[in-house]
Amino acid sequence: MLSRLETQVLYCSDNLPKLRQFPADCIDLIYLDPPFFSNRRYEVIWGDEAEVRSFEDRWAGGIEVYIDWMRKRILELRRVLTARGSIYLHCDPHASHYLKILMDQVFGQDWFRSEIVWKRTGAHGSTKGYAPVHDCILYYAGPGHTWNPQHHGYRDEYLASKYKYHDERGRYTLITLMPPGIRSGETGEPWRGIDPTAKGAHWQNPPSKLEELDRAGMIYWARNGKGLPRLKRYLDNNAGVPVQDLWTDIAAINSQARERLGYPTQKPESLLERIIAASSHEDDVVLDPFCGCGTTVSVAERLNRRWIGIDISPTAVNLMVRRLKKYNPRLQFLTEGLPVTENDLRRLRPFEFQNWVIQKFNGTHSTRNQGTWELMVTASC
Ligand SMILES: C[S@@+](CC[C@H](N)C(=O)[O-])C[C@H]1O[C@@H](n2cnc3c(N)ncnc32)[C@H](O)[C@@H]1O
Repeated sequence: MLSRLETQVLYCSDNLPKLRQFPADCIDLIYLDPPFFSNRRYEVIWGDEAEVRSFEDRWAGGIEVYIDWMRKRILELRRVLTARGSIYLHCDPHASHYLKILMDQVFGQDWFRSEIVWKRTGAHGSTKGYAPVHDCILYYAGPGHTWNPQHHGYRDEYLASKYKYHDERGRYTLITLMPPGIRSGETGEPWRGIDPTAKGAHWQNPPSKLEELDRAGMIYWARNGKGLPRLKRYLDNNAGVPVQDLWTDIAAINSQARERLGYPTQKPESLLERIIAASSHEDDVVLDPFCGCGTTVSVAERLNRRWIGIDISPTAVNLMVRRLKKYNPRLQFLTEGLPVTENDLRRLRPFEFQNWVIQKFNGTHSTRNQGTWELMVTASC
């Protein structure tokens, strides 16, 4: 067991034994993006060169073996998460239904908040059937959990059709001042010669308040004052649309994306920004136990959170080190578990060894040589 929890640390380790060393109730927010149960082979071109790396996420023993493997880890995550913490489990429709049952069992149904559908791609050629274009993110949180509402901007078509008026204060839309329903009090009285009761309606505000709004230039009079008054709502006063559980506004990393590192399954920073901003405060501790090339930790650092990343792959951890140093060359953080001795290196899988050598030389993969052990490094340092 760790005597105290270190943060701003990257562990190169299987997350299960590492999590078992953490004290209970020490993490405020967890995002996990484990290998999916999707019988797929990811292929990736590392860097700009032509090494094609296969990334197996096939689980030979079937879904039971996968869920059993996940259960051990989810139980540890439950132990380390605070009672008011939040956890987001990123998965795809091949296993989301099994994982939801597992999450319900471990956290309790009361903790379930949302099944977020992230539409990660718009176009996908599927030979026969409905093209798969979304991932699922299961969001669970304890009672009294942190919640900072998130908003996204309006779509251009919506703005063009709704916010079509402008004045010196900016762009605005019009909303009714006369909702339906007759009232007997002040809001049912005539104002400026208009009787709401005759229209089966009432004023949104008492006439004294309407006068105030009119003096402040907040009322729009249609047909040069002869039509019905309506309230101006300015775009700048409007935070946007509250984010719901269908996320269609965040694009996956494409080949042109500036943040792209070439790591298979790299998630976009804007996805993590939303999750971290919604479910944590500055200085909270954010954990990603399958952190890949470090999207979570890098966003957490930028948003002034404390963070911990774990990944079993030295290639991933080295990539994270580079990513964090590129973000801030003076950033202080720890790494633990990266191979150091000859024996450590001998234990690496061939492609991990290959990547280790290339990363050490700050090199790029040779376009000519694809051998596993026999490799050619184009050193750029
Ligand atoms: C889907 S990727 C995560 C991608 C990440 N969200 C990103 O944006 O880069 C899954 C990661 O889990 C790591 N992994 C697989 N098994 C693991 C284990 N037992 N412990 C820790 N990491 C593991 C893999 O090395 C891989 O980097």
